[in-house]
Amino acid sequence: MKFIQVKDYKHLSREAADLIINRVRQKPSLKLGLATGETPIETYRLLIDDHQKNGTSYKQVKTFNLDEYVGLSGEHEQSYHYFMKKYLFDHIDIPKECTYIPNGNGQGLAECNLYEDIISQHGGIDLQLLGIGRNGHIGFNEPGTSFDSKTHVIDLTPSTREANARFFNGIEKVPTKAITMGISTILQSKEILMIISGESKREALHNLIHNGIDEAFPASALKNHPNVTVIVDEAACGNTRLPN
Ligand code: PGA
Repeated sequence: MKFIQVKDYKHLSREAADLIINRVRQKPSLKLGLATGETPIETYRLLIDDHQKNGTSYKQVKTFNLDEYVGLSGEHEQSYHYFMKKYLFDHIDIPKECTYIPNGNGQGLAECNLYEDIISQHGGIDLQLLGIGRNGHIGFNEPGTSFDSKTHVIDLTPSTREANARFFNGIEKVPTKAITMGISTILQSKEILMIISGESKREALHNLIHNGIDEAFPASALKNHPNVTVIVDEAACGNTRLPN
């Protein structure tokens, strides 16, 4: 794992966007894995800015999102379909049919297998963008998820539903399930870019560096991967010393 430390969220987003832009320019038909959450929002804004100012094109790019809630329509403001349109897809030249997101209204296992097939048929993901949860989750793969897992449906933990209740006007409206790429799906990406920002991720970053490889901490699976870049800001680092 290669760590890059930057000053703050703004610099982290610049660094992440530059890496993605670089890969798209090197390979205009890049297969790009995408993430939702707060961390990548500024990175996406910088991709849009670069597309508008410098003309970087996504016409041949295919994107694959990590996860989606089960049971929300793509028009629901909390769905990841909606998030991706709002923060990226509606503002770049990528054809809609080239943006793949797990279908939260699909047929369970059949939908999971279909998503795996779609990724394979495109030759796999070249670059996967990832955030990290405070508990080390990647995608919706919570602690204890098998490192061999493929795309699967998970039960959202009570704490995750509680944390998201504010976005849904009440916990009873928060979906109880989600569909997520598995850890093995993520590890098959040729390159992985993880972004970790803010004090709330300090413990997660510390554990990522110091914990062994253990299913109790999903992000530790990345230590098995040969091409991972982790961009961190000073707030996430605190006193943690990054490996050389
Ligand atoms: P965040 O989410 O970017 O909103 O912190 C990251 C994650 O939970 O994977």
